[in-house]
Amino acid sequence: MTVMPMRVLILGIDGYIGWALAQKLASQGHDIYGADNFYTRRRVKEVGSDSVFPIPRIGARLQGFKKFYDKDIRFFRGNVADPKFVYKIFEDIKPEAVYHLAEQRSAPYSMMGLKQANETMIGNIVSTINLVYAAKDLNPDVHIIKLGTMGEYGTPNIDITEGFFEIEFRGRKDTLPFPRNAGSWYHWTKVHDSNNLMFANRLWKLKITDVMQGVVYGTETNEITRSHLYTRFDIDEVWGTALNRFSAQAVTSLPITPYGKGNQKRGFLSLDDSVNCLTIAMERPPKEGEYRVLNQFDQYYSVNFLAETVQEVYRELTGKNAQIQHVDNPRVEAENHYYNPDHKKLYDLGYRPSGNLRDEIKKIIEDLMKHRERLGKLKKVIMPKTFWRESSGL
Ligand SMILES: NC(=O)c1ccc[n+]([C@@H]2O[C@H](COP(=O)([O-])OP(=O)(O)OC[C@H]3O[C@@H](n4cnc5c(N)ncnc54)[C@H](O)[C@@H]3O)[C@@H](O)[C@H]2O)c1
Repeated sequence: MTVMPMRVLILGIDGYIGWALAQKLASQGHDIYGADNFYTRRRVKEVGSDSVFPIPRIGARLQGFKKFYDKDIRFFRGNVADPKFVYKIFEDIKPEAVYHLAEQRSAPYSMMGLKQANETMIGNIVSTINLVYAAKDLNPDVHIIKLGTMGEYGTPNIDITEGFFEIEFRGRKDTLPFPRNAGSWYHWTKVHDSNNLMFANRLWKLKITDVMQGVVYGTETNEITRSHLYTRFDIDEVWGTALNRFSAQAVTSLPITPYGKGNQKRGFLSLDDSVNCLTIAMERPPKEGEYRVLNQFDQYYSVNFLAETVQEVYRELTGKNAQIQHVDNPRVEAENHYYNPDHKKLYDLGYRPSGNLRDEIKKIIEDLMKHRERLGKLKKVIMPKTFWRESSGL
């Protein structure tokens, strides 16, 4: 399918997905605008951690991008929770599509204490409200693509649909939003965002794709493999997600640590699939005035299966054995549960998974081994310390 180049704004362009997405969209011919306030860089450092791959300052990043893709990214530095900042960008560039990735994205961070819970609530919810008002006032035709999470649904004992479901209750039928039952303050902010987006759509007929994304893993995309313009990669207990963290544990000779029984199941997808899906979502937009929900993941796996797969791939690559050690679950979550979410809509739009799990884990481990020294310095921040029930108050 050929798509005319579009003016695309990525809020959160300096992040794990944002930087990879910018490269994917540039390779498709789109014009990229980006915004960020380097929140993640700062907060990751505060817990004594850092991206495993060294990430250049934004100026050098943009120069590298220009050199490889022969395209400028116009960059806006600022906070999307500041309405004036969002309005200014919209006035300046009138984007045709905007991705909103610029939120506090760590569940453990949001559970550290009252300060972090409030920061997450306010920053995330306000930024989405700013965006829908700026769209309504300045650019009502813009397509908003907002990153939510599969974690919004929780783990109900019934199949999970994509956003809405038909229900018959006491003899009457309706189509209603699928119930949300999140498991951290962070995940609840995404639920609140979804409600607010749905309401903004009802009020002003804005065109919105609300993406329920699974956990993303991987170090490279097709574009990054060619450009070597790496995106950040977090592996600590606060900012690193399961599979990425397990791979780092194997490489640093730490035990791989499923939380609790490890039977928890979640939807996962590679970074390459994430940026492919997000590109498809933009190039195949919803109808005018539609609020669309997409469940964005490739497969669901149990935490134990992922731990064992990392162990096997690490052994195949290095001949060494990584231990698996179950640890007390820092989270409050069901460890044995039913899980069967739909993920059909993106397939209907043309998404096909690009690789397989084992190859992707191999690539992660190889990339991590290239940065062994830096990774060694982060070893002390990988094991879980943030316990949901110990969240501190004033
Ligand atoms: N990585 C995953 O596994 C995953 C899974 C599901 C959903 N998501 C969602 O996808 C989005 C992107 O995730 P990511 O992994 O790339 O996160 P990230 O933290 O690496 O990237 C987010 C970027 O947004 C910026 N940012 C945050 N708050 C900001 C603000 N108020 N103003 C301006 N910039 C701000 C950060 O500095 C960072 O560069 C997030 O909304 C996250 O919740 C991520």
